[in-house]
Amino acid sequence: MLFRFDLMAGLTDVLRAEAAQIEQFEEDFEPEVRLAEARFGDFQANGILPHAKKHGRNPRELATLLLQRLREDQICEDAMHMEIAGPGFLNFRFRPEFTLEYLRKFRSQDDLREGTREGTTGRKIVVDFSSPNTAKQMHVGHIRSTIIGDVLARMLAFQGHQVIRDNHVGDWGTQFGILILAVKRSGFSLDALGEAPLEALENLYREGNRMIEEDPALRKEAQAELVSLQKGNPESREVWEKINAISMDAFEKVYEMLGVRFDETLGESFYADKVDEVYDSLDRLGISEESEGAWVVFHRQHQRFAEQPFIVRKSDGASNYATTDLATLWHRIQVFEAEEIIYVTDGRQRDHFEQLFLTGEKWLAAEKRPLPSLRHVWFGTILGEDGKAIKTRSGDPVKLLDLLEEAIRRALAVVKEKNPELPVEEARHIARITGLGAVRYADLSQNRTSDYLFDWDKLLALEGNTAPYLLYAVARIHSIFRKTELEPGSGEEAATSFETDTEKALARRLLFLAPALDQTLRELRPHYLCSYLFELAGDFATFYNQDKVAVDDAATRSRRLLLCARTLTTMETGLALLGISSLTKM
Ligand code: ARG
Repeated sequence: MLFRFDLMAGLTDVLRAEAAQIEQFEEDFEPEVRLAEARFGDFQANGILPHAKKHGRNPRELATLLLQRLREDQICEDAMHMEIAGPGFLNFRFRPEFTLEYLRKFRSQDDLREGTREGTTGRKIVVDFSSPNTAKQMHVGHIRSTIIGDVLARMLAFQGHQVIRDNHVGDWGTQFGILILAVKRSGFSLDALGEAPLEALENLYREGNRMIEEDPALRKEAQAELVSLQKGNPESREVWEKINAISMDAFEKVYEMLGVRFDETLGESFYADKVDEVYDSLDRLGISEESEGAWVVFHRQHQRFAEQPFIVRKSDGASNYATTDLATLWHRIQVFEAEEIIYVTDGRQRDHFEQLFLTGEKWLAAEKRPLPSLRHVWFGTILGEDGKAIKTRSGDPVKLLDLLEEAIRRALAVVKEKNPELPVEEARHIARITGLGAVRYADLSQNRTSDYLFDWDKLLALEGNTAPYLLYAVARIHSIFRKTELEPGSGEEAATSFETDTEKALARRLLFLAPALDQTLRELRPHYLCSYLFELAGDFATFYNQDKVAVDDAATRSRRLLLCARTLTTMETGLALLGISSLTKM
């Protein structure tokens, strides 16, 4: 096993292989290796008990056999202390010499990256994220998709996958009928929208609705405008293009601020001429059927959808969100050769994606093509102080750009207060990274499927599971190296095995990056990595308060410098995966 970056995965493989050679173990043995509580060791194999129970064996006896075998084969003996605990658990504790050897081997960001790639075959993965709707402001709901999607894309690329970041912009909605009507009727100019163009477009949309309310006959006209746009009428097309260009410019500002980029921005309109193929194929293969004038796909075997089919063509013949997503799926398979597609949206779209995936399954099986693995990464709502979906004082949805600007402003106030003599430029730089990092981190550190409470004081606090706390830990390590006048990673040659409890606790934590990353990527839940980094920062703080680094004894100084340097690399790698740049001073 030894010298796998992911020791937990390595140990799992060893235990499986060893058990396979023992008669009393059956083929379905799962070692279930988990992190152990520190007082029991580093890892714990919990799988013997259920295995024994299932096959009517004595767990203690199975544990003894497995342990004997491990000892005889001498695979783990040098690296860790092993023992049986309780009715049949196995406990493992790494020997300090081994821990040191491991930390000498995995030292740079590249080593961590290479390590993470061990045992994974790179796949082609499309991450569909952010995907706001044009002619509207991006609201805080989109912040989660943008941040979570960006971070998943970063992590998957780190793990060696070929990632295509695709912004599936909603640029083909029914809102355009009303917008075009409003432009034409009010003589509104799209060329001078001023400072807040998206707000102006929202007002325009409201104005269109108001006009229809006053004169209901206009509703038909708006519908006609939509049809004429969809048919390619050049005048309507021009208005539509302008509105989209204005919207995309505004979105770009947010992306730039958040450091988010895309490989593709293929909005819904891109698929407008590809939906006919979808109708034909679904019809030809007998997957869709007519129901109340519309074309639908039933998934009757699924209770929840028995009465609620997936509508792929509306009764007026128009395409919809579902059709577009099917055409998009097809495109991603044909053109991108996607092996996996990840959709990042809020939880309210769960039914849509479940039905999309079920339909995709049927459709591709009938087309005799392999279906990529499809995953809906959904998230909960951001709540305001009142426990309801966050809103501004006036009751409008919070605007993303305002929120980010406010984060920087508030961070600047904190920086100035803590450090009044800092040069302005430096204070601004720190505030920008801290403020934006804090908003990102507040989102990422929560289990994405729960709602979370947005609280400025909490997310900007220097204490607790926050970006400022982690950034501060990193800055502190940089300052240690500045004081010793050493580069991180140098001065480690004389290091000996870890001795004090705090050294050992920190070293132990450093070995656990791999399982944390593994869990994060398996479940596509960034909060696992956040929790790990928070715990690492805590162990570092305890170590640093307890164990002086700049001591005379060369061996001690060396191994403590090594711990500082590895903590730094691990923290900076982790923060970079979360899209947060680090600071050398704070
Ligand atoms: N534009 C949609 C929204 O704002 C999200 C699109 C998600 N992606 C997809 N392929 N349906 O809700």
